Amino acid sequence: MGRTIYLWLLITIVFTYCKPKEDVNPLLDIPYNPTSYQIVVPPRFPILEIPTDNPTTVEGIDLGRRLFYDPILSKDSSMSCSSCHLSEFSFTDGKAKSLGVDGLSGKRSSMSLLDVAFSYKGLFWDGRAKNMEEQALMPVMDPVELHETWPNVVEKFKRHKDYPTLFRKAFGIKSIDQITEKLATKAIAQFERLIISSGKSKYDRFLRGEVLLDDDELDGFDMFFNNTFSLPDAQCGHCHNAPLFTTNDYFNNGLTSAATLNDFVDKGRGIVTGIALDNGKFRVPTLRNIVFTAPYMHDGSILTLEEVVEHYSRGGHPSINKDPLITQVVLTSRQKQQLIKFLHTLTDTAAINNPAIQNPF
Ligand code: HEC
Ligand code: HEC
Repeated sequence: MGRTIYLWLLITIVFTYCKPKEDVNPLLDIPYNPTSYQIVVPPRFPILEIPTDNPTTVEGIDLGRRLFYDPILSKDSSMSCSSCHLSEFSFTDGKAKSLGVDGLSGKRSSMSLLDVAFSYKGLFWDGRAKNMEEQALMPVMDPVELHETWPNVVEKFKRHKDYPTLFRKAFGIKSIDQITEKLATKAIAQFERLIISSGKSKYDRFLRGEVLLDDDELDGFDMFFNNTFSLPDAQCGHCHNAPLFTTNDYFNNGLTSAATLNDFVDKGRGIVTGIALDNGKFRVPTLRNIVFTAPYMHDGSILTLEEVVEHYSRGGHPSINKDPLITQVVLTSRQKQQLIKFLHTLTDTAAINNPAIQNPF
């Protein structure tokens, strides 16, 4: 009798301590209890549309922020999203054309990510990505950007000391095999929605009656939006309209000369739509934080705001589908300076210095 009890005890001990490893899944011990996060949208801004299948959570943002700043997404661990989107340049890289992991130059200039969550008419200069979730897949695979493959990146996540836990907390995965690029890009998109205007620029405070614009800024404001007959209409506000300072539509602003629709070095929107009349059109970029995003335009070909204003005042270069709003505008040199001073009122350092969007490492 006594011997049987000992035998059972022994068997129990053996089974308790020598359980095969596969049965142990430490991920399931980590609670999945995401906390919903409310993004603060500044007054007068459009409604922030959040995809129903990717609600914003504290845990999702935390994961997305790490992924955005982690070179694990690149072939040789040398670059991350943030290498080309730096907070101090309003999430551009200060270069005319971005350089990727192999030192190869991309075709276009990095884009500001400020208020990117409101880009409902497509992302990139040509609008080829539908939304941020879809966009975030592309830099990893791009041979002149991070030059990696998603299966490799997902393997790196699985072996990583922190990522399985972070994916569990953000998305409730039950095993590391449920880590996918789709979840990674959802997290990145959640993070990117936090790169949003603060409502504290001088322009925004002026609209709320909290500060005054000086006379130069006010004249610049009036020319920009054509508020008065006593000053020339600089046309800007038609395409760079408030509050985002972009309609997010696609235009040819006369950046390059083109005798026919096939003469554009970069066909821009036309590559995406396949419509020849869209060749040479690019998405209107925001002008918020424009002082930080030089050099300007999709090809980084304009170095300063002075030259930008010269470009428009001249009516751009001739090309067949140049928008009719891009015509010669006669401005005195004082008026050009006033326009630039107005552009400076769009500076929003609070947005890009927001501690929640800085490098967590
Ligand atoms: C090598 C530099 C580089 C890297 C790395 C990079 N980007 Fe970009 N990013 C660019 C350039 C250049 C563009 C514009 C490309 C175009 O229009 O064809 C862009 C455009 C974007 C846009 C579109 C913004 C808009 O308003 O349409 C988003 C969003 C973005 N990047 C996010 C990311 C994320 C997320 C990562 C990391 C997964 C990343 N980028 C990595 C250079 C880079
Ligand atoms: C017909 C629409 C239109 C009008 C009018 C217009 N723009 Fe633009 N703007 C664009 C487009 C489109 C781009 C991007 C062009 C490209 O990169 O090829 C752009 C780019 C810019 C840029 C570069 C932004 C960046 O991040 O690189 C600045 C600055 C700018 N515009 C300022 C102005 C000012 C100032 C005025 C008025 C004098 C003005 N725009 C009038 C459509 C317009």
